[in-house]
Amino acid sequence: MKKILAGRQMVKSFGEGNEKRRVLDGVSVEISQGEFVSVMGPSGSGKSTLLYALSGMDTIDSGEVSFNGTGLSGLGEKQLADLRRTDMGFVFQQPTLLKNLNILDNIILPSVRDNRKKTRQLSEKARALMERTGIGELENRSISQASGGQLQRAGICRALMNDPKVIFGDEPTGALNSTSANEIMALLSDIHRTGVTILLVTHDVKVAARAERVLFLLDGKIAGEYNPSRHTGSIADLDSREKQLRDWLAGMKF
Ligand SMILES: Nc1ncnc2c1ncn2[C@@H]1O[C@H](COP(=O)(O)OP(=O)(O)OP(=O)(O)O)[C@@H](O)[C@H]1O
Ligand SMILES: [Mg+2]
Repeated sequence: MKKILAGRQMVKSFGEGNEKRRVLDGVSVEISQGEFVSVMGPSGSGKSTLLYALSGMDTIDSGEVSFNGTGLSGLGEKQLADLRRTDMGFVFQQPTLLKNLNILDNIILPSVRDNRKKTRQLSEKARALMERTGIGELENRSISQASGGQLQRAGICRALMNDPKVIFGDEPTGALNSTSANEIMALLSDIHRTGVTILLVTHDVKVAARAERVLFLLDGKIAGEYNPSRHTGSIADLDSREKQLRDWLAGMKF
């Protein structure tokens, strides 16, 4: 499979002098087009930092990141921003939505900034995405009139507006109850089945078990790698995938 995302010997430190700490300590990862990869690991192990490095949201001190064969370090700010906007989607713990706009306008806002003339087409597209993600009724609602799970769906719609090749998720279910979390993960699994590559940081074993591969990060290094689907087959077998991943994690020494 073609590699869509590759990080080679990534090093990132924070702090100065004695306080200086390597948060990414020579991490290398390769992600194939269409893959669904989860990143787990204890708090502070560098998961978010890894996600920011691979998506070009933050720079690294040394090493190299490439997206679809293009080295990110060779791109200027604008080129990088363009690449993120056209090819990447982001879903965080809570979507940053504006209070004074309705849900539909929040979804199209980043795209409208790009292309003022096409607002009508963008609205059509947003409506179709809202239908697909189960929030078709909510387009005129303000964000205070929607649940956390519904707002997260809106965040996912926004991330899908430009048909990204890769979706980066940092704890996208972290603020949701387990029912909403399951629904959001079912949605992300559906999106993955349409060919979108997914890189997902999570603490939740049930969430991570949906991935085809789980990377375990410890002190800025990849301490282990697990392939759930290779062990149990289909996504329908989620409970047993979760159990097997739990067993594997129990064997990780940290
Ligand atoms: N901008 C920053 N400035 C200084 N230190 C930082 C910065 N960002 C992250 N760190 C530190 O780097 C380490 C790794 O942070 P990171 O956010 O990547 O961890 P994480 O694995 O995502 O943790 P969590 O599961 O709690 O989200 C932590 O010790 C954190 O305090
Ligand atoms: Mg984090």
